[in-house]
Amino acid sequence: MGVEGLRFVITGAAVGIGAGTARLAAARGAKVVVSDMNDADGQALVEEICAAGGEAIYQHCDVTDEEQVKALMAATAEAFGGIDILHNNAGVHESILSSELSLESMSRATFERVMNINVTGVWLCAKYALPYLRESAAASIINAGSTSSLSGYPQCQAYGASKGAVMQLSKMLAVDLAPDKIRVNCYCPGSIHTQIVDNYLAAAPDPQAMLNTMTQTHLIPRMGQPVDVAELVCFLASPESAFVNGAVWTIDGGSLAWRGTLDVLGMEVET
Ligand SMILES: NC(=O)c1ccc[n+]([C@@H]2O[C@H](COP(=O)([O-])OP(=O)(O)OC[C@H]3O[C@@H](n4cnc5c(N)ncnc54)[C@H](O)[C@@H]3O)[C@@H](O)[C@H]2O)c1
Repeated sequence: MGVEGLRFVITGAAVGIGAGTARLAAARGAKVVVSDMNDADGQALVEEICAAGGEAIYQHCDVTDEEQVKALMAATAEAFGGIDILHNNAGVHESILSSELSLESMSRATFERVMNINVTGVWLCAKYALPYLRESAAASIINAGSTSSLSGYPQCQAYGASKGAVMQLSKMLAVDLAPDKIRVNCYCPGSIHTQIVDNYLAAAPDPQAMLNTMTQTHLIPRMGQPVDVAELVCFLASPESAFVNGAVWTIDGGSLAWRGTLDVLGMEVET
């Protein structure tokens, strides 16, 4: 049970949530392909996992490059004999690409790059993993949405549009791949402490005010950590979640469950 023996492909796994998932899945006996464009951190992560007794390889892949995506799936099958779990984790916020985030100032190139990585990349990876997933008895695709799939945020036009699309794409794939017995789920994290959040905060006019806004709505009064999300991904990958399909699963400390901030409850954010 759990993820033991399952063969994972994780995109954008060099750092952040993808890296946290690679560590946890490998520690629980999964075979993991760490893929990213950031080769140095990706390779270092694989060394760390192998040194701890886990099984992992690194494969360079820009998820917007069709040939690299094909090569990623082929390399996984060659190394581990197939693919069971595709974790479409790679994603960017526009603040990583540009400091121009308003409707007037953001370039079309920035908008399209975010959509390409966050949406087209998910679709391409699913497309080229499909022949391998069809051969698996435990196939599932797990897509990274966001609370911005479901709610509005400042300076998130491209990101929010892309994450809304990922949520809907997940449902469409769950329908189309049901005859192949491939489950497809989407999870929607709140604020998880990684580079993407640090960049978003740095781009805000008042970073401290933005941090308060992001964490003051968490009923669990802290920022999430990559391992929090990794636990959910491992559950969605495991046979224990066999009846979970086409789901949109929030993992946000309860932030979308209400419309208030912690001071209303006499609580403070734990730092
Ligand atoms: N951190 C959060 O608060 C949060 C909240 C909601 C959703 N998410 C989503 O979770 C996923 C991971 O986020 P994170 O916080 O770990 O981000 P991160 O910035 O820490 O890591 C993202 C990784 O994706 C890689 N990447 C970027 N472009 C790529 C491409 N074209 N091809 C392959 N890899 C690429 C980067 O090199 C990096 O290693 C993203 O899809 C993000 O949108 C994060």
